[in-house]
Amino acid sequence: MTIGVGLLGLGTVGAGVADILSNPSGRHPLVGQLELRRVAVRDVSRPRPVALADHLLTTDPEAVVDDPAVDIVVEVIGGLEPARSLILRAIAAGKPVVTANKAVIARYGQEIAAAAAARGVYVLIEAAVGGGIPIIEPLKQSLGANRIQRVSGIINGTTNYILSRMASEGAAYGDVLAEAQRLGYAEADPAADVEGGDAADKISILATLAYGGSIERSAIPTEGISRLEARDVDYAAQLGFVVKLLAVAEHLGSDPDGTEQLDVRVHPTLLPKDHPLAGVHGVNNAILVEGEPVGQVMFYGPGAGAGPTSSAVVADILNIAGIRQAAGANGALDPLLAAGSWRQCRLVESGLTQHRNYVRLETTDEAGVIGRIGTCFGREQVSIQSIVQFETSGGAAEIVVITHEVSEASFRAALAAIADLPEVQTVAATLRTL
Ligand SMILES: NC(=O)c1ccc[n+]([C@@H]2O[C@H](COP(=O)([O-])OP(=O)(O)OC[C@H]3O[C@@H](n4cnc5c(N)ncnc54)[C@H](OP(=O)(O)O)[C@@H]3O)[C@@H](O)[C@H]2O)c1
Repeated sequence: MTIGVGLLGLGTVGAGVADILSNPSGRHPLVGQLELRRVAVRDVSRPRPVALADHLLTTDPEAVVDDPAVDIVVEVIGGLEPARSLILRAIAAGKPVVTANKAVIARYGQEIAAAAAARGVYVLIEAAVGGGIPIIEPLKQSLGANRIQRVSGIINGTTNYILSRMASEGAAYGDVLAEAQRLGYAEADPAADVEGGDAADKISILATLAYGGSIERSAIPTEGISRLEARDVDYAAQLGFVVKLLAVAEHLGSDPDGTEQLDVRVHPTLLPKDHPLAGVHGVNNAILVEGEPVGQVMFYGPGAGAGPTSSAVVADILNIAGIRQAAGANGALDPLLAAGSWRQCRLVESGLTQHRNYVRLETTDEAGVIGRIGTCFGREQVSIQSIVQFETSGGAAEIVVITHEVSEASFRAALAAIADLPEVQTVAATLRTL
């Protein structure tokens, strides 16, 4: 039996999906049973990398959702609206949805999941995080027996490309960004990538799946790489670290009422050079899942692009098609594939979380400065792993401190006292360290 697919969007990802569906040879036999029945675009006259019959294209995405020949709706338009409304419209019509849209799922995932559960349809989102890397279904299904302690990842290829080049060439952030834009690795407006918003969307989705409860997307502390200086990448390397934009979701404990306490955040992070994520370079992504009893499992691969992302989208379509064939169009939902929320989660106030830190201070170059800085940290019970003076010129010095794991509140209090020392000209950089 042929299954009708309706495609919302024929851009980078949509064209990749259309290409797979129109070339089933050598793939899973179910691919040959999928038929592209309608495709929505903004401009039908635009040249496309895939050849499609003219009558398939429309500028009316609702007509694709409503078309009785369309059994599965694939949303690869991007953005919040009309994507959210189209997904909800498909669900209301009882049609399963596949989407690559992390922005919509991070903000409206709960509304969409509730509507899908009520209507008894699947909404699958494998392509929304990590492009071609299977991570959504593994978290929902294959790792389901575990207590997940931490999910940490490099889940934005643009920033990883920029950081990799800053590290290998000692280049400045602005220069590498301009080059990345020229090569098509960074958008003309790179804000969602370089300010960390894209990674925050993705880690909120991973945290929701790992911990079974929805996460308030807007509450995730997010810091990007746009203020990162080449000298900090260099000093980190000299101290045995690489700097990566890390997205982390960590389980800290449980409230008496059973609400899970989570620390979810995105920020540039110093990773020891032997950390599993430290060797992930260029536009690649990787996600490290730490669970009990599985231990550490790492997922690595291409995090974006037409091929990898459409690979994940079509896998979701195949999952749905396979279930439809086995159970009939109105078969019961497989609870693991459907995956809803089963717990309450809350983000712990950032002052109460514990981290290791990197601090770079610009100071006057005089005897006793390091001792006074050490005293300020000591008064707040912030223990120091290393303190190194890096550069001395014209009566100025740069001092880099790496702390042990300390509470964020104590660290901030120590830093305020240090900033008030007459010898300290400025607290030039603070970064988290793993
Ligand atoms: N690109 C990647 O590597 C990647 C990786 C993972 C996830 N994703 C996600 O996948 C989604 C699609 O990304 P993309 O890179 O493929 O985007 P894209 O290249 O900008 O393509 C968007 C497509 O949607 C169509 N479209 C936009 N608004 C529309 C509207 N109102 N009505 C009808 N059609 C409309 C566009 O039509 P026209 O072609 O006529 O302009 C275009 O074909 C996004 O959610 C993105 O976050 C992308």
